[in-house]
Amino acid sequence: MLQSMRIIGGQKLVGEISISGAKNLALPALSATILTDAKITIHNVPKLSDVQSMTDMLAYFGADINYFNANSISLKTEKIHSTTAPYDFVRKMRASILMLGPLLARCHQASVSLPGGCAIGARGVNLHLQGMEQLGAQVNIENGYINAIAKNGLHGCDIVLPSITVTGTENILMAACLAKGTTRIINAAVEPEIVAFCNLLNKMGAKISNHGTSTITIHGVESMNDAEFTLIPDRIEAGTYAIAAAITNGKILLKNCDIDHLTSFFDALSLAGVSSTKTADGVLVERTSNCIKCHDIQTAPYPGFPTDLQAQYTALMAFCDGSSSVTENIFENRFMHIPELVRMGAEISMHGKTATICGKSKLTGANVMATDLRASVALVLAGLASQGETIVNRLYHIDRGYENIEEKLRNCGANIERIQSF
Ligand code: EPZ
Repeated sequence: MLQSMRIIGGQKLVGEISISGAKNLALPALSATILTDAKITIHNVPKLSDVQSMTDMLAYFGADINYFNANSISLKTEKIHSTTAPYDFVRKMRASILMLGPLLARCHQASVSLPGGCAIGARGVNLHLQGMEQLGAQVNIENGYINAIAKNGLHGCDIVLPSITVTGTENILMAACLAKGTTRIINAAVEPEIVAFCNLLNKMGAKISNHGTSTITIHGVESMNDAEFTLIPDRIEAGTYAIAAAITNGKILLKNCDIDHLTSFFDALSLAGVSSTKTADGVLVERTSNCIKCHDIQTAPYPGFPTDLQAQYTALMAFCDGSSSVTENIFENRFMHIPELVRMGAEISMHGKTATICGKSKLTGANVMATDLRASVALVLAGLASQGETIVNRLYHIDRGYENIEEKLRNCGANIERIQSF
């Protein structure tokens, strides 16, 4: 039975929202646990369908998994039963590509179903494969599977990435941890999740340095050890709820949000007339003016404006007092939310990578379709500020990345409920 979200717009959201652990750190962190037969304990793990998909896959590989409270999990993979990540897992969650590095590192072979494209773009993995080959694996693609084998194990080397890739950096990090010798990843991703991921790997016994810069150095080790780790808060979830405060002219305390992980984003919000103030336990977000000011943004790799907050920001600009533009530089098809916003009365035109938004004082609720994780939450945000009822269909997209979303919003005054849909 499919589910939808019913939102009756018009309420100012006032209150506080506890930010959950970062989805885009939970996924690499979980995949790294099969690098070793040691026990890895991870705290602040968000309850998300993507996390469930990852733990299902790890159990398939032989992980002994113990959830010992709502958001803490321990995993121990004494033996790996298979080195194949089947299509059925990968089609559900493309981050399954993160099994490639650890399987190669621990078992010297891996077969991972080639993740297809997705709604937001082709999502190539060529840079992942280039990294594995440079570390000594033979890689070929057959019947929709990436087959990689490193008969003599992996050997460290300098890997220059021609463009920034977050999970590509993570796959190479995991493979390099157990490679013989030293690896330098040049033009590595520098997201906060990458820094935290390297800190986790070092707790497991890896020897990684300069993470957070564009050249990360990894000295290979023989084996890894038990470790315990707490995930950083999800900056994209935090940014999403910051826009919920702004779009409803409310005031929300984002508990546990690390303001330093969202500098470009909060700078853009400030120019749009929305303040973000660091407090003892998070970040307080509220409008500084009665109207939302127009402010153009371009997405870029960290520390630039995050592509994962582009759809949410576009929804905010649909209410601005004039015209603004949003340029998506990371993915080639990340404007799927726009036709649905237009159905709510937004005035937005698209030209290649840029959307031009002519702000309106009001939008009207409508029956809209979610297409991908961030597009769907952008429609919820627009519904919160629109007149009347909005129904967002195909809620499974949202459940991939937002823990208890309706509860968190309802606690701030939103009129929102999950309904069965046909
Ligand atoms: C990670 O995806 C995130 N997912 C994405 O979040 C995020 O949008 C993205 O990084 C950019 O920040 C996770 O961490 C699980 P990339 P990833 O490799 O690693 C192209 C969300 O909403 N590319 O940095 O897949 C690629 O197609 C998700 O939480 C290649 O062409 O992104 C894209 O256009 C969505 N070949 C660009 O580079 C490659 O081998 C950046 O991709 C790798 C990437």
